[in-house]
Amino acid sequence: MADAASPARTRVAIFISGRGSNMAALLYAAALPDAAYDVVLVAANDPQAEGLALAEAEGIPTFALSHKGMSRADHDAAMDEAARNAGAEFIVLAGYMRILTEGFARQWQGRMLNIHPSLLPKYPGLDTHQRAIEAGDSHGGVSVHLVTPELDAGQVLAQIKVAIRAGETADSLAERVRFAEHQLYPRVLNDYLRMKR
Ligand code: GRF
Repeated sequence: MADAASPARTRVAIFISGRGSNMAALLYAAALPDAAYDVVLVAANDPQAEGLALAEAEGIPTFALSHKGMSRADHDAAMDEAARNAGAEFIVLAGYMRILTEGFARQWQGRMLNIHPSLLPKYPGLDTHQRAIEAGDSHGGVSVHLVTPELDAGQVLAQIKVAIRAGETADSLAERVRFAEHQLYPRVLNDYLRMKR
């Protein structure tokens, strides 16, 4: 996807577990002429992850390995090997529903980003939208952050706030937050990679 005249792009692997809409946003943003990265692998811990078929259709190499029946360390090691074999310099977690081992997180520290559907440090973990609504917050939102061994606790690189309307449900909020996610993730990844060069 890089054109001959563009500066070298960073090779990134995207890890997913499901739908992969953020992966799609990242993939299509990489098709823009000024993108700072190429997607060299889409990897999943669920062979049925919907996003894998999309990546394949777009000609991106994929890797799938169910975590079931494997130790966390062995599964992380296999994902790590797949990323390295693809020549990835960076890992981008996009709806990857796995808690990482400390070793894996340390191995990629500074070179691994995650997107989380809340205004961190509020609501790390699951059920973020429901928790924001129940707390009476005026806004939910999305954060892109560096990944460290502690869950959802690495440095926040950027956020977008999303208004919580009267009668909002977790599903309706999640749907709108996803629009914001798709704007935010490619932009932050591009900016971060350029800053690291
Ligand atoms: C997104 O809401 C993301 O913030 C969270 O998991 C969801 C993934 O959605 N980490 P998708 O698979 O990218 O559609």
